[in-house]
Amino acid sequence: MLQTVAHSSSPVAGRPNAPAATIRRARPDDLDALETLEEATFDGDRISRRSFRALLASKSALVLVCEAPGGGPLFAYATLLFRTGTALARLYSIAVSRESSGQGIGRALLMRIEHEAYERERIAVRLEVRADNAPAIALYKGAGYRFIGTYQDYYADGAEALRFEKTLHGDHPAEGTVPFYAQTTDFTCGPSCLMMAMAKEMPNLSLDPVLEIRLWRESTTIFMMSGPGGCEPFGLAVAAHEFGLSAEIHVSAPGTLFLDGVRSAQKQGVMALAQEDFRRRAEGYGIPVVSKAFTLRDLKSAIAAGKTAIVLISGYQMFGKKVPHWVLAHGDDGRHIVIHDPWIAEERGESRADAANLPIPYATFDRIARFGKVGLRAAVFLGRR
Ligand SMILES: CC(C)(COP(=O)(O)OP(=O)(O)OC[C@H]1O[C@@H](n2cnc3c(N)ncnc32)[C@H](O)[C@@H]1OP(=O)(O)O)[C@@H](O)C(=O)NCCC(=O)NCCS
Repeated sequence: MLQTVAHSSSPVAGRPNAPAATIRRARPDDLDALETLEEATFDGDRISRRSFRALLASKSALVLVCEAPGGGPLFAYATLLFRTGTALARLYSIAVSRESSGQGIGRALLMRIEHEAYERERIAVRLEVRADNAPAIALYKGAGYRFIGTYQDYYADGAEALRFEKTLHGDHPAEGTVPFYAQTTDFTCGPSCLMMAMAKEMPNLSLDPVLEIRLWRESTTIFMMSGPGGCEPFGLAVAAHEFGLSAEIHVSAPGTLFLDGVRSAQKQGVMALAQEDFRRRAEGYGIPVVSKAFTLRDLKSAIAAGKTAIVLISGYQMFGKKVPHWVLAHGDDGRHIVIHDPWIAEERGESRADAANLPIPYATFDRIARFGKVGLRAAVFLGRR
């Protein structure tokens, strides 16, 4: 199917001197032109004809090409890879012919790539670029990509690769009305989510690290590794209730939670006692407990009813660390659960824009909203009391 980034009468990306262009999916009869373009634009590490053919045939790759409306020689292409089982897309290659460069085509292709990745339920695009490729680096930075690290000796001549990433928010980013708060310690994700849920119901509430630590002290039981621990659902629900919210606990496993990662029997004993205290208090407050895994439908109805949900997420799926992590689900756009992730990974160049109002495709959310070997599913649904 042909899809245009610009009508034949209008230039790419609105530049007055830019050619009108059509971006479409590459076909097998584009192989010659792709090969020619590749040879003319890259000095080394080229994609071979054979690889292009494989990319064109692969379900996990998308090759887009750029041509004049109505056809004609190709003057740009880009390749996007979708690894199964991840929420990421990888920009494998992008090139604009020398004659057509500097006219906004690279940027238009990149925007289209991001659109395609978002449509295929990806939450971010990653890429690698030679450290000495200033035009491409400027293109990516200008489009909002963050530097996330390097790969030494990545290219055939030993050159280093810079790695970039961009979180996708779609063409119409969700705004949402729930205030965002970024956790200031690595163990206060739960309380930070609770603060955001509280701020939705209490607009004058001031969100600061003092409240964050207070809520953490009131809802924590977990010893993790050697440092201070995170929170569990009963403690969060009790703290929410004490601050005037209505809370409903959903937890798929009976008994004491999060003992797996704790080696010391003494610590396990302390955790069990603290959790027993929270359970008794939750019961005393009449906080409903649903002892099974919540479904996406449960979550969607809660959000439709104006509630928010603090949801346990696999930190491994989110940022590669095997720790439990809490996020606040607060929106539903018909295809995505919109979350605030209180963790802003500053070391990876993330900013608030990467963590607030993040649209997570339903299937991805369903997959990552569980923790540990047994796939513990836990959430606290919160609303006005
Ligand atoms: C990198 C490349 C794709 C850019 O495509 P392009 O169509 O020329 O880029 P655009 O005209 O859309 O420009 C978009 C931005 O890219 C940057 N850019 C493009 N050409 C640049 C140059 N020669 N020097 C510095 N920055 C440049 C600028 O930030 C520009 O924004 P601006 O015009 O507002 O300053 C193109 O130069 C290319 O194909 N290079 C060879 C292949 C390659 O290196 N691919 C990337 C591999 S990771």
